[in-house]
Amino acid sequence: MSPADETPARGFVWVPKAAAIAREAGARLREFYAQGVETEYKGDVDLVTVADRAMEKLIRARLGEAFPDHGIFGEEGTRERLEAEFRWYVDPLDGTTNFAHGFPQFAVSMGLEQRPAGTAPDGDGTLVAGIIYDPLRDELFTAERGRGALLNGRRMQVSRARELAEALLATGFPSRKRHASPNIHFYQEFTLRSHGVRRAGSAALDLAYVACGRLDAYWEFNLNTWDTAAGILLVEEAGGRVTDFAGNKYRLASDEILASNAAVHDELIGLFADMFAGRGLTPIPTPQELAERRKARDQ
Ligand code: IPD
Ligand code: CA
Ligand code: CA
Repeated sequence: MSPADETPARGFVWVPKAAAIAREAGARLREFYAQGVETEYKGDVDLVTVADRAMEKLIRARLGEAFPDHGIFGEEGTRERLEAEFRWYVDPLDGTTNFAHGFPQFAVSMGLEQRPAGTAPDGDGTLVAGIIYDPLRDELFTAERGRGALLNGRRMQVSRARELAEALLATGFPSRKRHASPNIHFYQEFTLRSHGVRRAGSAALDLAYVACGRLDAYWEFNLNTWDTAAGILLVEEAGGRVTDFAGNKYRLASDEILASNAAVHDELIGLFADMFAGRGLTPIPTPQELAERRKARDQ
């Protein structure tokens, strides 16, 4: 597909230029990936590579040329024109751990927020554009508020699954303060009640996959705005719903995200409520119980 297919016909305002930038960064990521890169630690198992930093630099320069009045907030430290009415949240490489290990699941993510004058520094504006580009599959996910969501230029929609029992889900786990995360309990329970839970390692692609119907829902704790801004708009514009785990309106600084096809959303919120109240955990054997059973079997 040529960039010309990328929807001027639908009246997208920011996507055409931003998608070209995401494609350029994606093409460079493909080269880095093919040649292999050294990995550094930002903390715990939070990895960073030369590719993360180089692509943030490139995207920052290109956004500055394309949208000189817009602000930029990037994972690798860019903080530019944060007083501007429009602000890009940039994750130059979402899925760094995958990238560093040669596991083919990562993306460029760019979300645009409109912040009218008077928006408090910690207040939310409105997400107005989202671009996620998967360079290995050459899949470009785009959306603008009120103008729909597209995958490689074609309209995309969330799935039709009606209940958790027929849903395919995804989640992720933090790369910092791992011992403080309770998510494995939710992982277990959702696994037992659905078709399964994928943990593929790119929050941006998880959200894009909810938007295009490959996944029915996705949740995660403690993500950052650069992980989610683009994907949230994709899901909403594709007919889905994004909230916190209690069903409240999602705020950009929220430390909980639940995104779904809308149809299974209330059931998931109910399960979260049960689990937070200490109800609804299905008992499974402990490793020790299993060891005892094996011992008994072998005697
Ligand atoms: C990570 C990925 C991963 C999620 C982590 C994120 P990064 O982003 O999105 O899927 O589980 O919480 O930090 O570090 O690869 O940009
Ligand atoms: Ca990320
Ligand atoms: Ca990243």
